[in-house]
Amino acid sequence: MTDQAPSTAPERIRIFDTTLRDGEQSPGVALNHAQKLEIAHTLARLGVDVIEAGFPIASPGDLEGVSRIAREVRGPVITGLARANRADIEAAARAVEAAEKPRIHTFIATSPIHMAKKLNLEPDAVVERAVQAVEYARSFVDDVEFSAEDATRSDWAFLARIFRAAVEAGATTVNVPDTVGYTTPKELRELFAFLKGELPAHVILSSHCHDDLGMAVANSIAAAEGGARQIECTINGIGERAGNASLEEIVMAFHTRRDVYGFETGIRTRELYRASRLVSRLSGMPVQPNKAIVGDNAFAHESGIHQDGVIKARETYEIMNAELVGREAAVLVMGKHSGRAAFRKALTDLGYTDLPDDKVQSLFARFKDLADRKGQIYADDLRAMVEARSDVPQTFTLEGFQITSGMNMTPVAFVRLQTPDGPVDATAHGDGPVEAAYQAINKITGLAPTLESYRIQAVTRGGDALGEVSVGARYGEATLHGTGVATDIVEASARAWVRVQNMIVAGMGTERRQGEFAPGRI
Ligand code: KIV
Ligand code: ZN
Repeated sequence: MTDQAPSTAPERIRIFDTTLRDGEQSPGVALNHAQKLEIAHTLARLGVDVIEAGFPIASPGDLEGVSRIAREVRGPVITGLARANRADIEAAARAVEAAEKPRIHTFIATSPIHMAKKLNLEPDAVVERAVQAVEYARSFVDDVEFSAEDATRSDWAFLARIFRAAVEAGATTVNVPDTVGYTTPKELRELFAFLKGELPAHVILSSHCHDDLGMAVANSIAAAEGGARQIECTINGIGERAGNASLEEIVMAFHTRRDVYGFETGIRTRELYRASRLVSRLSGMPVQPNKAIVGDNAFAHESGIHQDGVIKARETYEIMNAELVGREAAVLVMGKHSGRAAFRKALTDLGYTDLPDDKVQSLFARFKDLADRKGQIYADDLRAMVEARSDVPQTFTLEGFQITSGMNMTPVAFVRLQTPDGPVDATAHGDGPVEAAYQAINKITGLAPTLESYRIQAVTRGGDALGEVSVGARYGEATLHGTGVATDIVEASARAWVRVQNMIVAGMGTERRQGEFAPGRI
């Protein structure tokens, strides 16, 4: 394992996380306020420098989501995105006004194709708009970031000109988005080196890469080599189309190869895995098993030769320890004889230090129940239990169910829910056992959301693994995501569906956003 210190003091790279803005632009992802807030707190604990909390003009819900984060999350800079116009900037300013460290991030496109076809503006007019936007943003906050959308397909001299004008107007950070994921490491390194020579030394150069050619992480690292000192990225690399540069991969590349790069970030790497799991669960976007750093197989050794090597010396086939990214979890934690104090200590060891007593109490009851059925409880089981804990008011709770299902017969489900009026039972049939259970639940609640996506994955390995079900549902204009965890997959499915129903009752769905980035709307 390479563990050499760089010859000179490492240079600091700022991590700008845009999971809640560009990440939320992933098809099918819609987070409600409570979920956004939970992710933002996790990002703060992770140690990101900047949280882009949303795009406030997109909808009143987005504006409120950003302002809640601005009010409640301390530590990182909180920013909201705004196109280069007054209405967007006013919305962003309102959204971040309560932040400890507010920033407005404004942008306009600079490539010939965007200026001609989308904006229908001459380059001089684009520069003028950029300057006006930055000046207006500076009338609200001291920290303004300016982005040149589609920068990597823009003329370099024009980029330097618009960035110089933005800096003179008051921008403190200028960002170079590879909006369509078109650039290459060599090209981007050279572009940053060029821009560095054109701009005053105090300006922070920033990169923002998309993964259309699978090079977002490599391009971000090359940008830093060329002079970028802020990198924009997302947890698990989620984002528009093929996604954004993956935060965990960039951070661990800098950490593991600091002998080569000489950069450091402020990220607490041991929080990476937990952040990845949270974002996957709340966004409903699974992490591919072979994904670097956070995928299920990232630290698994399958071949006999590799296993033999790792047993003799881990460094034979591991370039970093799983513990370093918060995955010490494979070890056995507890069994059914473990007491309350040991349970709390296990939670604390896993980083869950802020759980209120009543929550620990109900988790302990669930743990005992699980330990009875499953025997050995692993750290990943505990994580799944904690993460599935309900942040949603429990109007309905699953009390029990029975399914009759088999070949050449229609599955029938009997379900009992605890409701505000006491326990209520219903029976229904469906195309499969899960659908039958969902129909029975709908009968009890009187709500009938449309199931849009369904995903199941094992939380731990082995035949007695916990299964985690994530469902996406539509109810009127609202999009909702629910998860449920249990050793029985129908139970996990029913728990996820009951959670969706509770979210509907609590009015927690996210509204559809109208016309975001609609062509010609600038
Ligand atoms: O990809 C992009 O161009 C963006 C900007 C709005 C920063 O996300
Ligand atoms: Zn982007």
